[in-house]
Amino acid sequence: MRPIQLTPRLRSVAEQVPTGAKFADIGTDHAYLPAWLLQRGIITKALACDLRKGPLDRARATAEKYNLTQQMDFRLCDGLAGVAPGEADTIAIAGMGGETIADILAAAPWVWRADCLLLLQPMSAQPELRRWLQAHGYTIARELLSREGDTLYTTFVVQPGPMGELTPAEAWAGRQRKGEEAPLREEYLNRLVAQTARAAEGLARSTRPEDGPRRAEMEQVHTGLLELREEWLSWQR
Ligand SMILES: C[S@@+](CC[C@H](N)C(=O)[O-])C[C@H]1O[C@@H](n2cnc3c(N)ncnc32)[C@H](O)[C@@H]1O
Repeated sequence: MRPIQLTPRLRSVAEQVPTGAKFADIGTDHAYLPAWLLQRGIITKALACDLRKGPLDRARATAEKYNLTQQMDFRLCDGLAGVAPGEADTIAIAGMGGETIADILAAAPWVWRADCLLLLQPMSAQPELRRWLQAHGYTIARELLSREGDTLYTTFVVQPGPMGELTPAEAWAGRQRKGEEAPLREEYLNRLVAQTARAAEGLARSTRPEDGPRRAEMEQVHTGLLELREEWLSWQR
């Protein structure tokens, strides 16, 4: 059977799954992630979960195609509602908005108690998700960037544990560490610097009174991002 190939975005999630993990993929759609891990023998069983029937049917089709049906358990459920505490110790939630990911984790506090490893890949609302994780006792141990076309994707590697306050700029860009390998980080910071400059300019043109404080907040984030970029570049010299 031909090996399944993952694109860089999903590959960055897959590579973080420990050998022998009790793995659940939430919002699995085609189940490419569990299928790749099973095919390589990294895991021996997987929970493939999705909110909708269509995606779960696609997951079943992938499992059949690669002869992995016996090793996958399919659950039609909202988030982790169909996963019992202890059934998984490593959970991927990729390809959803950051707020949906936070809602899924908020509805399953056992994940924190069971010390699960979380691999989260938010498509939007990254600052909101970082803040939510910090406020709910999770720590982002690492962030991995991957590129597909013109898009940069971020995977958060998360575990229960205190993370300490994030600055406003860190909520936007994640915490950076000296010596970490992150070839795409400079570009990521450049994009956020440009995005927050545009947002602050837009708010500066607004006549709505409530946009005054939002502009001040955005300018603070922008200044903080410039400092993070300067720090990052100084570490690369
Ligand atoms: C864009 S696809 C991502 C598929 C795959 N995880 C990936 O990253 O390529 C999002 C999937 O998440 C599912 N989904 C959205 N909200 C969900 C929820 N609350 N619980 C479970 N699945 C959800 C959707 O039905 C869809 O199949």
